[in-house]
Amino acid sequence: MKKVLALLLVTIMLVTVFVGCTPKEEAVAPEGEEKITIGLSLPTQREERWVRDKEKMEAVAKELGVELIVKVADANMQEQISQVEALLAQGIDVLILAPHDASAAASLVDKAKQEGIPVISYDRLITNTDVLDIYISFDNVKVGELQGKYITEQVPEGKYILMSGAPTDNNAKLFKEGAMKYIQPLIDSGKITVIAEQAVENWVPENALKIVEAALAANNNEVDAILAPNDGTAGAAIQALAAQGLAGQVPITGQDAEKAAAKRIVDGTQSMTIFKDTRDLGKAAIEVAIQLAKGESVAANGAVENGKIDVPSVLLEATVVTADNIQEVLVKSGYITEADLR
Ligand code: BGC
Repeated sequence: MKKVLALLLVTIMLVTVFVGCTPKEEAVAPEGEEKITIGLSLPTQREERWVRDKEKMEAVAKELGVELIVKVADANMQEQISQVEALLAQGIDVLILAPHDASAAASLVDKAKQEGIPVISYDRLITNTDVLDIYISFDNVKVGELQGKYITEQVPEGKYILMSGAPTDNNAKLFKEGAMKYIQPLIDSGKITVIAEQAVENWVPENALKIVEAALAANNNEVDAILAPNDGTAGAAIQALAAQGLAGQVPITGQDAEKAAAKRIVDGTQSMTIFKDTRDLGKAAIEVAIQLAKGESVAANGAVENGKIDVPSVLLEATVVTADNIQEVLVKSGYITEADLR
């Protein structure tokens, strides 16, 4: 009987120790795990969308309990290089890099990888590197196709001004490539005449303003359509049109679903914009960064060629927004408010 009692006691003690241990061990394990630190380098905050990307990534990082160190270069590659070097020196676990200059950023990827830090190319592709881990963006050729399809449907023949984005931004190339799938055949058949074709250096609206002002002046104000690569450049083009009393009379594209553009669409001076939900993009980037930091594999849904390799890519969908669906797409989804439209 004594033996049985002793055995029982030992069993009870063991169970207590074991049970007592389990939650303690569980509580200790996450604490023992090192906190993940993500470095984020953004090219600018000049366009509203980049402000939204930053805000979303900060919110998701907080929610998921990871540290996010953010640096913003003011559309200046030298500044971005020193900021990323500082991030690498701080001991980040993973780098999210949206390059100001696609090919100049390659050396930063190489440097990070030499230190064993995975790199995500965010929104804009980093070219000429063969060690990039992943590209997270939208289907940017498709974005251009949506712009080209829209404008050629509105204006199947006539005089066009074709603007493209910053030559240093690989996206600009992809947007133009997509748009020209629709525009080029109509140029070839003689239906469309291009009266000006120019890249907007650094995506600066002031540069777009000059391009459109010059084209209007040289063509006696005779223009039928404008391909503007984003809302910032569209706004500037509309300013040039307005100065000639032509705002609202010339179909014009855009991109980014900026508040000012949404208002212009409602007012009838801008024809469309492309909605790329930066909330989804920012969230995806932080989630993928955590997976990479943990050494987990990441599910890509495409690949984009960067001059050296086909970079595994996560590409999200973009949507055309016009006066017809602006309520549905932008207001109902909470991207902008009713008040923004007024
Ligand atoms: C982005 C656009 C943006 C442009 C200027 C591009 O790389 O994809 O959304 O308007 O840069 O910042």
